[in-house]
Amino acid sequence: GNGHKMYSYEMLVEMSDYLLTKTKIRPIIGIICGSGMGSYWKDGSLAETITDAEKIPYEEIPNFPVSTVEGHHGRLVFGRLGDVPVVAMQGRFHYYEGYPLWKCCLPIRVMKLLGIKTLIATNAAGGLNPNYKIGDLMIVNDHINMMGFAGNNPLHGPNDERFGPRFPPMNKAYNYEYRQIAKKVAKELKLDNIVKEGVYTCLGGPNFETVAELRMLKMVGVDAVGMSTVHEVITARHCDIKVFGLSLITNECITNYDADTEANHEEVLDVGRMRQELLREYIARLVSEFAKI
Ligand code: 6GU
Repeated sequence: GNGHKMYSYEMLVEMSDYLLTKTKIRPIIGIICGSGMGSYWKDGSLAETITDAEKIPYEEIPNFPVSTVEGHHGRLVFGRLGDVPVVAMQGRFHYYEGYPLWKCCLPIRVMKLLGIKTLIATNAAGGLNPNYKIGDLMIVNDHINMMGFAGNNPLHGPNDERFGPRFPPMNKAYNYEYRQIAKKVAKELKLDNIVKEGVYTCLGGPNFETVAELRMLKMVGVDAVGMSTVHEVITARHCDIKVFGLSLITNECITNYDADTEANHEEVLDVGRMRQELLREYIARLVSEFAKI
């Protein structure tokens, strides 16, 4: 397979150099807008409220992968949130689209070369923790790399020391200070009843999980399940980017056989739409606070 055919360092530098000629913005924070956080709609989403915005479609970046999910924007948005220079990915690359994990994570390394120090990775996830309600936000405090257990990892293959070490630690993946700030800001915005904290896992998708699979995940301590983020965070930590993870709980994971509901993508998008404004306000505040430390 092409699992080891990673892009050379030089190709990634070419991508970031191209971007730096296209924008005057020098971002210090990168934001991945997940489903329900700006990748789908024209108006109102976080990415759309970035000021002095310069939008660069993935197709225009030399050798950059192109998003295949219908309705996704597939572009980088450079600009400011408050006075903080940021770059937002509107549309990410998912494993289920057919990309190897390293390719899903290529934008993380490009953002590293652009100069970001911090990554805010958002996603939509199913809630396994019985205390979670639809529309809740979960501050990710840790993850379980299920795909990694099966030998699939974005860092699989030759290591490039210019990004990071062969064997990166992962016990402090989700920055402690950022999580404290996120809880403090949640209180200030009176969101503390909907902002929770927990463990995320990523499965390959594209199907949602069986009842037995979800029961297993619950037993091993997973609070929310999705199809992204974990490999991006691993890639970011490898090259020493500080990480904040946030999941929007879009549906309840069904762990009993009698339930007559089924997970579906429309519901995921609807809840994203419902929480759009709140997320925008919350993340804008987090960006301003993170930039201070
Ligand atoms: Cl229930 N599972 C997965 N894997 N991803 C999701 C989800 C569930 N709900 C939203 N995204």
